[in-house]
Amino acid sequence: MTSPQVILFAVSPIIVLFMTRLLWHRVQHNRKYKLPPQIPGLPIFGNSFQIPALQQGPWAKDLADKYGEITWVFLNSSRVVRDLMERRAAIYCSRPDFPMTQGIMSRESRIVLIPYNDRWRVLRKIMHNILSSRQHDVFMPFQDLESKNLLWDYLETPDRWWSANGRYANSVIMSVIFGRRSVLDEPNQIELFETAEEFLEEQQPGKNIVDGYPVLQKLPRSLQWWRPRGNRIYEKTRNVYLREVKDLEERMKAGTQKQCFATDFLATKEIKKMGEDQKLFVFGTLLEAGSDTSRVSIGQIIAGAATYPDWVKRARENLDAVCGSNADRLPQWEDRPKLNYISAVVKEGFRWRPNTAEIGAPTMLIKDDEYEGYRFPAGTVFTWNAWAIALSPKEYEDPERFWPERFLNGEEENALKGHWGFGPGRRVCVGWKVGEMNVWIAIARLIYCFDFEQIPGKPIDTMTIPQITKHKAQFEVKVTPRTPAHAKLIRKECADAVKVRY
Ligand code: HEM
Repeated sequence: MTSPQVILFAVSPIIVLFMTRLLWHRVQHNRKYKLPPQIPGLPIFGNSFQIPALQQGPWAKDLADKYGEITWVFLNSSRVVRDLMERRAAIYCSRPDFPMTQGIMSRESRIVLIPYNDRWRVLRKIMHNILSSRQHDVFMPFQDLESKNLLWDYLETPDRWWSANGRYANSVIMSVIFGRRSVLDEPNQIELFETAEEFLEEQQPGKNIVDGYPVLQKLPRSLQWWRPRGNRIYEKTRNVYLREVKDLEERMKAGTQKQCFATDFLATKEIKKMGEDQKLFVFGTLLEAGSDTSRVSIGQIIAGAATYPDWVKRARENLDAVCGSNADRLPQWEDRPKLNYISAVVKEGFRWRPNTAEIGAPTMLIKDDEYEGYRFPAGTVFTWNAWAIALSPKEYEDPERFWPERFLNGEEENALKGHWGFGPGRRVCVGWKVGEMNVWIAIARLIYCFDFEQIPGKPIDTMTIPQITKHKAQFEVKVTPRTPAHAKLIRKECADAVKVRY
């Protein structure tokens, strides 16, 4: 026999044994559990190679239309999301292992990917203490100041509206966390958005085979082709966070730093128990999650204004009744109880195209469970199919239309009710209140002061607005002051806001 034949002869009993065991396990597994219909895929790799790299929302929506309320991991209706991820959140909302995005790129320290454990609980509490609704008063003055700066930027450089959104959202969170403002085109801010987008890109299901099949992390390190890329992203991300913390420490030494979350946090006993990476990722997560999501959400509503202008008219009736029809004054926080149409607009913005998490965020079941005849094993990965639910006619009348009236139901101020823009259950966005307020004051003022129109020959395709843009605007749109009086109002009320420095 030739040597390959010898090797084959020698290993074939092992292969047969391995295959038999695999089959036996599969039979036992199928007897014990009953899973929803599976989408046909490849042996071993399942559906990994069918998932598009970007804009998975429309892809997952098609699956939902075809396969019904539950597919392999996708929960495709609000009813089942509520039943499992909210009512049974204690066992449904942990996180699976992500050896690339959490292990290598985040050194196990990004809170959004930490499974249910004591570390997650400690971190969630720290974040909750800064971001909860009790903290309104801390954020409101910054949101007021920064949204005035936002209007100024829209007036002066309308074609840079997207960068202005990014600066605005970043500066609010930066002010609260690091006690300093950010300016347009700041290098560290640009890098922060880059690393946030790199994380999102790497997190897309199917992008990293090891995150779908964590067993691959057992390969020798030299064979893990994803590892050098992961290390490179980790280093870049860590440096962005580290630069902020170092600058802060310098200002503290020089006695020029005002009190902020970071100065308080650096003095707590919790931080003494944290490793360096964990400490940096607490700061970094706040900056990353606090900046990217709000700029995207404001962009969505602008797309809604340009493509469905009928609601803008009605929003302005509400705004003009409160602030004057001739640009008398800007909308203020105190006007909120009278501007319920704007609150409905913001909710509709979160529902309409849930671009922050197009196919939800994967969670892991931690205990075997039964639901409506299905038996799920512990370890099953679930997600709420955000795009499919938001655009289902079974959930919403005329779902593709931007139609704030659907939320004019007396619950405009209950920002989480009626959509899944912030996720369900125990993993619901811990910064939802701050995010909602960021969007509310920005949109109230932008819609009062500016017209948003599609550019002839460049219609906005609202079904493919990208979530990852690499510094470019999400779409092109024409931004003009509503009237000369509105432009004058911005000059009068916002010029000082741009000059404030701390
Ligand atoms: C418009 C704004 C925002 C939107 C649409 C949004 C959306 C989301 C979504 C969909 C999740 C995942 C929920 C899940 O896994 O079920 C999430 C998680 C999270 N968000 Fe937000 N978010 C926003 C603003 C913010 C802000 C301002 C902060 C902080 C400054 C923040 C911090 C976080 C954190 C730390 C998590 C992880 C929570 C955990 O895993 O326990 N978010 N957000």
